[in-house]
Amino acid sequence: MSTVSIDLGTQGYDIHIGPGLLRDPAEFRPWIGGRQVFVVTNEVVAPLYLGRLLESLAGLQCESLVLPDGEQIKNMESFARVLDAMLAVPCDRGVTVIALGGGVIGDLAGFAAASYQRGVPFIQAPTTLLSQVDSSVGGKTGINHARGKNMIGAFYQPRRVVIDTATLSTLPPRELSAGMAEVIKYGLINDAGFLGWLEGNLEQVMRLDTECVDYAISRSCANKAGIVERDERESGVRALLNLGHTFGHAIETATGYTTWLHGEAVAIGMVMAAHLSRLLGRLDDAACERVAWLLERAGLPTKPFHGVTATRMRELMQGDKKVQGGRLRLVLLESLGSADIVDDVDEGPLMETLRTFCLDG
Ligand code: NAD
Ligand code: GLY
Repeated sequence: MSTVSIDLGTQGYDIHIGPGLLRDPAEFRPWIGGRQVFVVTNEVVAPLYLGRLLESLAGLQCESLVLPDGEQIKNMESFARVLDAMLAVPCDRGVTVIALGGGVIGDLAGFAAASYQRGVPFIQAPTTLLSQVDSSVGGKTGINHARGKNMIGAFYQPRRVVIDTATLSTLPPRELSAGMAEVIKYGLINDAGFLGWLEGNLEQVMRLDTECVDYAISRSCANKAGIVERDERESGVRALLNLGHTFGHAIETATGYTTWLHGEAVAIGMVMAAHLSRLLGRLDDAACERVAWLLERAGLPTKPFHGVTATRMRELMQGDKKVQGGRLRLVLLESLGSADIVDDVDEGPLMETLRTFCLDG
């Protein structure tokens, strides 16, 4: 069992990591101020884990809302559904919202907690690897709009993050791999030592060896916490967490979010970012190969992406949230374990990378 603390002054909190934590009332009770709890979850996670969470909350007035599964529910309609259900109870301002599920549920429930009566306490209980190492930490909450992903939301920190690593045993292998893309990302952008550890222990993590999983998640959370502490609202260094995401989001948009999971698109995007870093003289061939090999061992796609033309990819990349004053800002690697944000990448090498990975045209 490990604890990672995130120091954000009065908004700081602990992230607790270990197997079986959902069954432990002590993980939740001290952080629930009032008598009411409102759990938001979905139809896949509820039959697996809602019962054990509710047992840990016995004696409190608990209500839960079970939503359909999928990214498509992260929208205005579901947001209104959560608020309607809370008002129907009715929940008072002392209610604690608990998000039980992956990043979709965490982002949606967090935004509802931020909005209900101008903000009520919130606990994250993430159940996918991606949500355990990324989305449950750092306070980004929100929903999608037809015109773009995560376009509506709030920075709203949870009171606590309870990561029950035993929940990973039911996660489909493809989702586990998608979460590994974000784990590997921390090594690439910030932590060469962790990258080396992953190279030696990746298979043990993928097999869900308890100690290795605990270490991989806690070191990922510590990396994220360190970055968020320096830049909670993403005015600078937090953008490093988007390594591979500008390419990845364009791939997801080009394929209508149907072909690749987010982590898979990010994996291809990180290989593209490494390729561009090499063209710009920042990385050598061996470093690029190490990036691709580690992602492949995690079951992630790294090969050239042929679903869209280079020109279309370039257009889609211009819609990235990091674009400022029309200028593309890309996260590139300086070395394995260090990244920076570059806003003056020449179109020549950028298009060469896009042409290497995409269709001609
Ligand atoms: P998800 O929430 O859709 O979960 C993936 C799938 O796994 C779903 O089908 C879900 O029902 C299922 N599932 C969840 N836990 C399970 C378990 N223990 N056993 C079996 N199945 C389980 O997807 P995700 O990858 O967790 O999160 C993606 C979302 O996170 C996106 O909406 C993305 O925008 C968001 N995100 C947010 C941040 C942030 O900082 N807030 C960061 C990264 C991603
Ligand atoms: N997942 C990116 C961030 O939290 O900033």
